Amino acid sequence: MKALVIGSSGGIGKALTECLRADTRFDTVATLSRSADGLDISNENSVSVCARQMKQVHDAFDLIINAAGALVIDGSVPEKSVKAIRVDALMNQFLVNAIGPALLLKHFHGLLPRNARSLFASLSARVGSIGHNRLGGWISYRAAKAAQNQIVNTASLEIARTHPAAIVVALHPGTVATQLSHPFISGHQATSPEDAAARLLATIERLQPHQSGGFFSNDGQSIAW
Ligand SMILES: NC(=O)c1ccc[n+]([C@@H]2O[C@H](COP(=O)([O-])OP(=O)(O)OC[C@H]3O[C@@H](n4cnc5c(N)ncnc54)[C@H](OP(=O)(O)O)[C@@H]3O)[C@@H](O)[C@H]2O)c1
Repeated sequence: MKALVIGSSGGIGKALTECLRADTRFDTVATLSRSADGLDISNENSVSVCARQMKQVHDAFDLIINAAGALVIDGSVPEKSVKAIRVDALMNQFLVNAIGPALLLKHFHGLLPRNARSLFASLSARVGSIGHNRLGGWISYRAAKAAQNQIVNTASLEIARTHPAAIVVALHPGTVATQLSHPFISGHQATSPEDAAARLLATIERLQPHQSGGFFSNDGQSIAW
């Protein structure tokens, strides 16, 4: 089998790559990242060039995982109050956490095989769930991840018409000790990237085509929109 990890330079992306490379069922584990390959998921030209290159070299992937995303962008930390909302911070969140995954779906879904089980998973976040929100705050990040969930769900319905065995999902990786979470997790329990990657891959393995379009946590449980 062939897998592609997008955002392979990140804490979770790197652990997913290592875990997949240790799995003998995968003969190819390709990677793409901003720092190693210049892939900027918020830039359509960059996404389409990378997708074309991957198509030329590998033709198709049984598994594509998007592990690229961001919480603090250009120094803008998550808002604690509606009074802290800023246009540039909100736009940057949507660019990376919603428009980025949309562009990846647009340009990479054609790399899923049409007649075999395949999976496209994008890392979202439980805080993007409207149904779970009891705390408030982090409006830009929450809203961008909620938008990502809608994009994944809507794309999955269309992709099912041409790729009936494809599974297109948004996944919550848990609270994971990475650079992204580091400033915000003191006093909270966090799993290691390696543990999170193993759980995500176990969940991915269990998912079935009828679950395509869903939003799942790393233990396989469905998360409310
Ligand atoms: N850690 C957690 O507790 C947690 C919880 C819930 C959800 N998540 C989600 O899980 C995903 C991965 O998080 P992480 O903790 O592994 O974060 P991380 O260690 O900070 O890694 C972030 C990754 O995203 C890439 N990236 C950021 N902006 C990009 C852009 N515009 N174009 C291309 N790549 C870009 C980075 O690339 P470069 O380093 O190469 O620039 C890096 O590979 C994110 O979507 C995050 O929202 C994480």
